[in-house]
Amino acid sequence: PMLSQCLNLYDFEVVARQVLKGTAWAYYSSGADDEVTMRENNTAFGRIWFRPRILRDVSNIDFSTSLLGQKSKMPIYITATALGKLGHPDGEKNLTIAAGKEGLIQMIPTLASCSFDEICDARVHEQQVQFFQLYVNSNRAVTEKIIRRAEERGVKGLFVTVDAPQLGRREKDMRIKFEDTGSRVQNDSKDDVDRSQGAARAISSFIDPSLSWDDLHWLRSVTRMPIVLKGVQTWEDAVRAAEMGLSGVVLSNHGGRQLDFSRSGIEILGEVVRELKARKLFSPMFQLFVDGGVRRASDALKAVAMGATAVGIGRPFLYAYSAYGPEGVQHAIQLLKAEMEMNMRLIGAPTLKDLVPEMVDTRALNQH
Ligand code: FNR
Repeated sequence: PMLSQCLNLYDFEVVARQVLKGTAWAYYSSGADDEVTMRENNTAFGRIWFRPRILRDVSNIDFSTSLLGQKSKMPIYITATALGKLGHPDGEKNLTIAAGKEGLIQMIPTLASCSFDEICDARVHEQQVQFFQLYVNSNRAVTEKIIRRAEERGVKGLFVTVDAPQLGRREKDMRIKFEDTGSRVQNDSKDDVDRSQGAARAISSFIDPSLSWDDLHWLRSVTRMPIVLKGVQTWEDAVRAAEMGLSGVVLSNHGGRQLDFSRSGIEILGEVVRELKARKLFSPMFQLFVDGGVRRASDALKAVAMGATAVGIGRPFLYAYSAYGPEGVQHAIQLLKAEMEMNMRLIGAPTLKDLVPEMVDTRALNQH
């Protein structure tokens, strides 16, 4: 199909399934174990309903916002996904180009296929903002070097992934043995990578399972970038991160690729906001992000109404560039912008500030 025939983000998945090699489809589309959590990510948003307000002047709609103090055209960012070249020879650079042109922020993965510098060099303008997703390596010197390089290249935020001390079992991926398709594991010797059990297993050797709260003090001492924990699943951990003075958390289950039967980020958001508020820790200085299953602008608006700053999107952008290159990702973002404008107008919220908790009915959200 032609790009213009893609009318929403789901359409890119249908196309990608046709054009991707088996190994790439298996790695990108898979979730852990029985994929219950992966499916839940998509259905959880469906348990939230809007309470729109009428007769407000909605002639001008503004959905711009800021994430960790950095401007974004929408409360949506491109989250980190590893091994970008499995889907397209230009890998993550497709995302950089589209993000720059559309004014979104891209989170660069530690385990990208392109080198970190290639991804930075692909920025389309000077002011383009990028964040970095960090997997902490057991060799802390390696990690420190990665962080310093990120800082040198002007990266504005560090998202430390905390839900992957061991990579989940993605059986679709394991069935198709990982053939090396130009992917490389940054700062790690290729020979350390065991490719015999699929792409996910191949990269898990990079990640240090001993990482703990104490290491965050060290992490803070080596960088001035704001630090956000990616993969928080409970209010207890979110409160602890806020008490430590970190800059935020991503409520996420890694796209359903880690612990099966972990809850969706959007479901956790309610308890996190409630407990932060109870401790007077709910503030713009500690931002809440959600990812997993976001496919419509309305999903993002639900999260924002509930107290999130922004939401991350993973797979749809991978699928978009795998099929159509950077223009595919741009088209996906433009679809989201159009949905955003229409939904805000119909909800009666001309700006994101007008999108208050009373505009969503979440009573069904935590009932399964
Ligand atoms: C991911 N994700 C991920 N997260 C992370 O912190 N480091 C990583 O290297 C990766 N790699 C990765 C690869 C692929 C193929 C996918 C699909 C996902 C998780 C990602 O950042 C995010 O949490 C989910 O993708 C969000 O869910 P959706 O939007 O894909 O449903």
